[in-house]
Amino acid sequence: MIDLGDIRKQYTQGRLDETTAADNAMTQFHAWFEAYRASEPLEPTIMTLATVDEHAQPWQRVVLLKAYDGDGFIFFTNYDSHKGQHLAHTPKASLHFFWIEQERQVHVQGTVEKLDRSAAEAYFHSRPRESQLGAWASQQSRPLRDRAELEARFYELTEQFADQEIPLPDYWGGYRVRPNRLEFWQGGEHRLHDRLEYVREGQDDAWRKQRLNP
Ligand SMILES: Cc1cc2nc3c(=O)[nH]c(=O)nc-3n(C[C@H](O)[C@H](O)[C@H](O)COP(=O)(O)O)c2cc1C
Repeated sequence: MIDLGDIRKQYTQGRLDETTAADNAMTQFHAWFEAYRASEPLEPTIMTLATVDEHAQPWQRVVLLKAYDGDGFIFFTNYDSHKGQHLAHTPKASLHFFWIEQERQVHVQGTVEKLDRSAAEAYFHSRPRESQLGAWASQQSRPLRDRAELEARFYELTEQFADQEIPLPDYWGGYRVRPNRLEFWQGGEHRLHDRLEYVREGQDDAWRKQRLNP
């Protein structure tokens, strides 16, 4: 057994206090996200997305956060992928942000809906041409014989769409996670971490905020 019990870090970066934290969970998210972004991490928009399949088996993977506002968190993907199939069956997800530099994590739960096609169009066409071709070339999450098959498809599509706008594939688009719970965690000394939970019952309801034991 590789014993890792001696790897131990103290968390001392800051405090999270219910009297100064925002009353609106998304306002609090914005403050923390901006602080994280200002620290110039390699890839500020990374988040872990968890879905469940039809057997209640949880799955996780990293996706990129492409936008957020009071209505929720937006990411883009292939609707036929594993995650797309899970969300068609169970339109609920959990998002997780882990910001080690600040000793913070944010945990989100919510319901998921597909974005309008017009929003997907706008984002798709803002991507580099090669990424658009990549979305066409990849039947995401399906078995692939070898890499050569994928690259051959990519080059065929490059020729097929030469000198023309690349259309948005039917199976590609965005999702919005509409949160009903957010939890903010700030590491503390002696494992006395700060945890604030925000919950709301309905989309228009106010957020209820409470402290949780670490
Ligand atoms: C840094 C990083 C960013 C990623 N961004 C996305 C993304 O925005 N959308 C996406 O569909 N997959 C993204 N992926 C790939 C996913 O993690 C995953 O492999 C893919 O979506 C297939 O997942 P699924 O089979 O569970 O549906 C990213 C992976 C990494 C490591």
